[in-house]
Amino acid sequence: MNTLRVLYFGDVVGRHGRLAVTKALQEWKEELAPDLICANVENLAHGFGITESTIRELEAAGVHIMTSGNHIYDNDAGVQFLRDKNPKNVIKPANYHESTPGARFATRTVKGAPVLVVNLLGQTFMPEEVASPFETVKDIVDTFASSETIVIIDLHAEATGEKYAMKYFIEGKASLLVGTHTHIVTADEHISTGGLGFICDIGFSGAADSSLGMDAQRVLHKVVYNQPVHLEPPQEASRIVARAVVCDIDIATKKAVRIARVDRTYNV
Ligand SMILES: [Fe+2]
Ligand SMILES: [Fe+2]
Repeated sequence: MNTLRVLYFGDVVGRHGRLAVTKALQEWKEELAPDLICANVENLAHGFGITESTIRELEAAGVHIMTSGNHIYDNDAGVQFLRDKNPKNVIKPANYHESTPGARFATRTVKGAPVLVVNLLGQTFMPEEVASPFETVKDIVDTFASSETIVIIDLHAEATGEKYAMKYFIEGKASLLVGTHTHIVTADEHISTGGLGFICDIGFSGAADSSLGMDAQRVLHKVVYNQPVHLEPPQEASRIVARAVVCDIDIATKKAVRIARVDRTYNV
């Protein structure tokens, strides 16, 4: 069987997350031999949005395609980067308004197979006003995917129910559906009966001793004492964690045949 192996990192949070992905890939490129490496970068630059230099850092580590989410536009320099450079490998949620900067999907040929990566924002318990992720992904796949295309989707969403709805909606049209945004890994990775690799959330990469990658003291002040505190990753971290899923897709049938969580903690 000729398979395509995808390695997908969830939300990469700040400097500690970038270091964790870099360290993990130094090992996993050899151990896992991935053909395509993706990561969610909405929290890449100090927890909020992106910058060109942080994107270049992940590219240097070996990440091919980067998806995002509701924090993609939080850093002005990152917005300008998307407008000026229009990178083909960094994509926005496709159901944002068409006037927003950034590509709606990414394409790449891997082991001779066309691959289409789509990023979507959920609507349930999310404050952003976006078009239906279901109608949006259907439009993109129907328009841009051929019968040969391996479709990979990152649904950046809060509600597990919405992610499972997408699983049943897109089954048969996609090979891999990953969830991001909650920053907490779920233990439900599986292959559906229709051959879709699925996980509700991959979890974040970043400072291990934190609250979802953010400084725990700041979170306490905000949540417990209701203080108007700006959340950000901790300045220092003695332990960092990298979290991803690895999924093998049969190129001939486009069905996923194996999915597994991978994570590693590093002392720094
Ligand atoms: Fe996030
Ligand atoms: Fe998010």
